[in-house]
Amino acid sequence: MTNNNMIFIANWKMNGEKNHISGVNKTIKFLKKSKNKKNQIIYCPPFTLISSIKNKVKNSIIKVGAQNLSQLNDYGAFTGSINSKLIKSAGGEYVIVGHSEVRNQENDILINKKIHSALKEKLKVILCIGETYKEKKNNKTLSVLKRQITIALKNIKKINNIIFAYEPRWAIGTGKIPKTSELRKNFEDINNIINKLKKNQKYKIIYGGSVNSKNVLELKKINDLKGFLIGSASLSAKNFIDIIKKSTN
Ligand code: PGA
Repeated sequence: MTNNNMIFIANWKMNGEKNHISGVNKTIKFLKKSKNKKNQIIYCPPFTLISSIKNKVKNSIIKVGAQNLSQLNDYGAFTGSINSKLIKSAGGEYVIVGHSEVRNQENDILINKKIHSALKEKLKVILCIGETYKEKKNNKTLSVLKRQITIALKNIKKINNIIFAYEPRWAIGTGKIPKTSELRKNFEDINNIINKLKKNQKYKIIYGGSVNSKNVLELKKINDLKGFLIGSASLSAKNFIDIIKKSTN
């Protein structure tokens, strides 16, 4: 794995009052001092903090994204919904789609619509895929990944603005991570599925699920793993920075 061109995404989920963004200053400072200027750092806070974080990071390499979006491109009477245009106007450049915590209420077809909508507005997509524990136990991982990726990419011509985040659902927030051999196989399978669907296109796969500054050393052994989607550990600036340091040293 190349160590100087990685993606680190902080997924704050439903956390972060206004004063929480002071932690972003630490990341900005760290990045200024760091010799490595090629990593991509993306904060995905709740919608309510997108524009304040954007404001804070405007002179740094940090980008901002949302955690979900409506599939509807046009403005309208949809109380409580946020679409790609609103995310863009708040300063978001990325959006997470299909996170396992929302897949319970969303199906693959809806996820495909959301990807179309995001790409149309030139948002970059972080597409989450991954199996449940039951699916893993029943040897269904490959077929689940195949289904999720195939439907998500339906009628999407170019995938250069999609980051694939492999997040086994059983690894999210549990402190458990897959065995290296298992992860290696799943990354290989994901590559095969994507390459078959979209020949000769460039894309990146990252890993998410209980990433911390300790297990990152094990995780980074995987070829083709280009970064991390980090939930709870990203809420502390110190832990987030530690993960970046350890992955890129
Ligand atoms: P976690 O969350 O790091 O807290 O497991 C990852 C995610 O849900 O994206």
